[in-house]
Amino acid sequence: QKVIKKICCIGAGYVGGPTMAIIAQKCPEIEITVVDLNQKRIDQWNDTDVSNIPIYEPGLSDVVAEARGRNLFFDTDIDKAIDESDMIFISVNTPTKTYGKGKGMAADLKYIELCARQIARVAKSDKIVVEKSTLPVRTAQALKNILDHTGNDVNFEILSNPEFLAEGTAVSDLTNPDRVLIGGQQETEKGKQAVEALVSIYANWVPKDKILTTNLWSSELSKLTANAFLAQRVSSINAMSELCEITGANVDEVAKAIGMDSRIGPKFLKSSVGFGGSCFQKDILNLVYIAKSYGLNEVADYWEQVILMNDHQKRRFAHNIVKTLYNTVSDKKIAFLGWAFKKDTNDTRESPAIYVAEELLLEQAKISVWDPKVKDAQVYTDINTLGSIEADEVDNKLQVAKDPYEACKNSHAIAVLTEWEEFNTYDWQRIYDNMHKPAFVFDGRGVLDKNKLQEIGFVYYRIGEGGV
Ligand code: NAD
Ligand code: UDX
Repeated sequence: QKVIKKICCIGAGYVGGPTMAIIAQKCPEIEITVVDLNQKRIDQWNDTDVSNIPIYEPGLSDVVAEARGRNLFFDTDIDKAIDESDMIFISVNTPTKTYGKGKGMAADLKYIELCARQIARVAKSDKIVVEKSTLPVRTAQALKNILDHTGNDVNFEILSNPEFLAEGTAVSDLTNPDRVLIGGQQETEKGKQAVEALVSIYANWVPKDKILTTNLWSSELSKLTANAFLAQRVSSINAMSELCEITGANVDEVAKAIGMDSRIGPKFLKSSVGFGGSCFQKDILNLVYIAKSYGLNEVADYWEQVILMNDHQKRRFAHNIVKTLYNTVSDKKIAFLGWAFKKDTNDTRESPAIYVAEELLLEQAKISVWDPKVKDAQVYTDINTLGSIEADEVDNKLQVAKDPYEACKNSHAIAVLTEWEEFNTYDWQRIYDNMHKPAFVFDGRGVLDKNKLQEIGFVYYRIGEGGV
């Protein structure tokens, strides 16, 4: 059996960084180099102060501190890392295409293809190439075609090993995964060996019965399917939240009632202002595009509805604020608690906060944002990237506060966009005293202490809760 001594991971992002840190921690005999084109990102991973690594994940800096410099390295010399490795993980971004055919739907595979071409150019010895990025089903075929035309007489085995970690819990998800999925060409001897080589890496800390091996296409498609199902649950409960608000039902009670049915299960039923993050929308759009490209229009429409519902939920939340504030928010200050797409991460990609802010800025509201982990510049970048609001208007109306009290001071309303636990620890009396009255709270995550807030005097609206 092939024993892996050196691993290279291309892409030092939210997936490449944490995944390789855990492999390095659990397999001290394997040398791992994580490479990236982005010099700044690599410098941050190498920062002597380990709290400055570019990704905030609970527990991650300790793992990096333990392994970095021992058997975990971060570098920009991609050619060297490819050349020296036995196994190469491709963990680069696969965003939604913003141009050409499939614009706004298909996954942009240009970064993946560049990696394949670079591997093809550099490799002089046999390599196992592992798809870690989330990819359209049958991408492994395209990779193989590129890699097999090098003329270097090098053998490449391709594996699919999608990553199921969620942000904010990456370290525990990687340490104790529900399952590890490895797809490969098990009908050939070399394919089987490659699968076994990767299985034996994970077997250092993952129980064997949780390491699932399949064919390549099942593995690639399972990742898109998992994200589609998870997002569908959120859209399903969010669809019910609107009905709850009108009928006087309470979405948390409904979620609990249905979640106790063991066939449904209690997880992923928290109604919200909408799901965000870099994966759900992108992966469903990709699935919809794939289905359409095979002429499966009903399949495509079915999954697209998950996204349409999510867009509706974000807009609905913003419109409800406007409606409740007497149909005008022009020049009224609205405080945003939370900007990240979920708690315990500094990631803001596709965060619902961005789209709620956009709707309110278009209504000429002033917005003051407080998030415990997101940097000021990121908030501005997120809004400016939308391109729907003039830059001076953004400068005039959007402010990032240095603490929650400053964000809420002189505001007409507070909107909760992320479920950060610290929100419940604030001095809410102090916040109330410094607000315009009536002081409104729109809890888009259903996390604040309703009774306490109402006792203080707030007018409190919670997503999915109707007046009785
Ligand atoms: P990311 O944008 O955080 O990181 C990708 C990195 O790849 C970037 O730093 C970029 O500079 C680098 N890169 C791009 N092209 C390169 C090249 N040719 N050579 C070297 N470096 C290159 O992305 P991410 O969130 O880590 O996601 C990576 C993949 O993993 C995506 O396919 C995503 O769908 C999937 N995924 C993400 C998550 C998640 O929670 N973020 C979870 C599971 C799967
Ligand atoms: C997701 C998948 O969970 C993970 O397996 C995959 O590898 C990457 O995509 P992530 O996007 O990091 O992970 O976070 P996740 O916990 O899935 O949350 C996604 C969004 O859904 C967040 O905005 C979250 O707030 C929202 N959500 C989640 C809800 O609104 N309600 C829920 O009950 C669960």
